[in-house]
Amino acid sequence: MAGDRKTQRFDASRPGDVAKVAAILRSGGIAAFPTETVYGLGADGLNAAAVTHIFEAKGRPADNPLILHVTGAAMLEGVVGGVPPVAYPLMDAFWPGPLTLVMPAAEAVPRVVTGGGATVAVRCPDHPVALALIEAVGRPLAAPSANRSGWPSPTTPEDVLEDLDGRIDAILDGGPTGMGLESTVVDLVADPPRLLRPGALPAEALAPFLPGLQPAFASLPASAVPPSPGMKYAHYAPRAPLVLVEGTPGAVAACVLRLAAEAEAKPVGVLATVENAAAYQGLVAGGALMEVAGARDDLAGVARGLFRCLRTLDRRGARLILAEGVPREGLGLAVMDRLTRAAVRVVHAGGDGP
Ligand code: TXA
Ligand code: MG
Repeated sequence: MAGDRKTQRFDASRPGDVAKVAAILRSGGIAAFPTETVYGLGADGLNAAAVTHIFEAKGRPADNPLILHVTGAAMLEGVVGGVPPVAYPLMDAFWPGPLTLVMPAAEAVPRVVTGGGATVAVRCPDHPVALALIEAVGRPLAAPSANRSGWPSPTTPEDVLEDLDGRIDAILDGGPTGMGLESTVVDLVADPPRLLRPGALPAEALAPFLPGLQPAFASLPASAVPPSPGMKYAHYAPRAPLVLVEGTPGAVAACVLRLAAEAEAKPVGVLATVENAAAYQGLVAGGALMEVAGARDDLAGVARGLFRCLRTLDRRGARLILAEGVPREGLGLAVMDRLTRAAVRVVHAGGDGP
């Protein structure tokens, strides 16, 4: 049963705790751990039975494959069946870091990890605790984000426990994560390579290595088989329905105020940018809830605050979330990808651009 585990808490800053969590993973358990992006829910990536428990705990569809987390390129042996040449400069430039590479899978990789496919996604996280844990286990760790399937990704141990307490064997507390948004996923098996998921490594950084890299999702007809199974599921959604409002800051603020006034479900929650926060003071005085994710001119801050703010608005009891969009450039591409997939409706408020 997914819900009858006792979740032991460990603290990454306590000597010996990383080794204790590694022992749980080596014996087939599942444990949450911090990475630089979001918390992951890990299992020994070469132990099919252990990996199956990840799917049960998250309620994740079986055809959605998992990322294998490694300490570096040296660990790819036995995991990847032939490293595409373009992978080497990418790993040199961006590992450890938030870049996941899809490559041909080696025989030894359990099919439950690959979702039954012939490819495997691999990344090397840039977090001392994650690296120490993988090192101590001595094997790649299969790890999706440590949230219930479909919900916002977890950026704190509290988020993980909110979703998974009693469903996983352990959590290794390493404090809040630094980036707040998942890794960028690039498919190197496709020719030419394609961007499967915009993420914490901006697509612009990849351009010198992969000129003309196209997002696989932009050209996806509604009826097509998605190139990454993760694309076809509802994702990142808070419990309250979320309406995404795009446009220039002034147009967005006016539209949010109008939608809030029309809303029947109260309280309304506003996911605001710093630039517009003052425009909502009256709304907040009238009982609306507001969380400020970050500033439009610091999209790393918005990325860091995005999932945290969505979860906070849920906890505070928002019945409808009105979320401000940001420009689709740099980290804004990933922020807008998550918000668009979380949204029940996207409203174009107008103005000259986002
Ligand atoms: O930052 C991250 O990537 C976090 C941390 C924990 O490392 N992990 C994460 O995993 O976000 P997850 O499972 O929530 O998202 C992995 C994405 C999914 O959209 C999945 O469909 C895609 O990567 N993926 C995994 N393996 C794949 C494969 N072989 N081919 C295509 N897409 C793949
Ligand atoms: Mg996820």
